[in-house]
Amino acid sequence: MRLLIVGSNGQLGHDLMAQARQRGWMPTGADMPVCDITDRQSVERAIESAGPADVPVDIMINAAAYTAVDKAESEPEIAFAVNRDGAEVLARAGRDHQIPLIHVSTDYVFDGRQTRPYRPTDPVNPQGVYGKSKAEGEARIRQLWERHVIVRTAWLFGRHGANFVKTMIRLGKERDTIRVVDDQVGCPTYAGDLAGALLDAAADVTGKTDGWGTYHYCNEGAVTWYGFTRRILTLAGRYERIRVGQILPIPTSEYPLPAPRPQYSVLDCTSFEADFGVTRRPWEAALQEMLAGIYGTAS
Ligand SMILES: NC(=O)c1ccc[n+]([C@@H]2O[C@H](COP(=O)([O-])OP(=O)(O)OC[C@H]3O[C@@H](n4cnc5c(N)ncnc54)[C@H](OP(=O)(O)O)[C@@H]3O)[C@@H](O)[C@H]2O)c1
Repeated sequence: MRLLIVGSNGQLGHDLMAQARQRGWMPTGADMPVCDITDRQSVERAIESAGPADVPVDIMINAAAYTAVDKAESEPEIAFAVNRDGAEVLARAGRDHQIPLIHVSTDYVFDGRQTRPYRPTDPVNPQGVYGKSKAEGEARIRQLWERHVIVRTAWLFGRHGANFVKTMIRLGKERDTIRVVDDQVGCPTYAGDLAGALLDAAADVTGKTDGWGTYHYCNEGAVTWYGFTRRILTLAGRYERIRVGQILPIPTSEYPLPAPRPQYSVLDCTSFEADFGVTRRPWEAALQEMLAGIYGTAS
């Protein structure tokens, strides 16, 4: 299986590359500054580097995105250029070369007012610039290239790159007290598990005529940022000294940020599991694996 992974240096892209190699596939990675998804010519060069024109790659996975949720509020033109226009460039390139596209999106396309898990068919209503730019990117792909799989995920944490888990461990070592939002509920998702699931989906749809559409994939279980933090620091405390004495639950109103977040963004992943034969594990098990990896005790 030959695949092109765009955004290969990011948190998710890194795990996609590593796991594709472990499977014995031939992944070609592309990322900034060499491959800019807003520039069709550089995407063309990435496709060429991944395979000759007469035998293009089997599938393309897009893990590239503008992911600075708060910064997006003050630089919307960059967020839309990457997340909307970049998605369009990839969809057009996929269509022109007949390469299916797996594209990663976000729970932030929803407004968070629902009280049951969001299904892929539920209407989107993003509240911030990042969510809007991702929702428009999804829409462009659907319009342009039918052989797509859009996978929305949430609250990503992985071994590579910056994320909430690493930030909380750092704060837990520096501070006596941490205040964490306790009225937003979501599904923490391990980048390694998402990478494996995306590769399973890639293997499943390649060469098939069905399976295209929009899906959700997260680790199992839902929690607030406060509950997630408590678990992170309890587990990290098994490996090193965590100084923090108090972790205090606070409402979102006491931690104002530039971008609004959905209060509830639990994703219903039933169709992903059914269509791609994937089983999900609880986020806590994935968190344990990540920490064992970081602290060097993984088997
Ligand atoms: N992180 C989360 O909590 C979260 C939650 C839900 C969904 N998602 C989605 O999951 C996917 C992967 O996220 P992630 O956490 O792995 O993101 P990430 O670590 O920020 O990685 C994104 C990668 O895309 C690259 N990139 C940015 N602009 C680009 C461009 N114009 N052309 C080519 N590459 C570009 C970045 O390069 P630079 O570093 O050089 O900018 C980076 O290597 C994204 O689609 C994101 O929207 C993430």
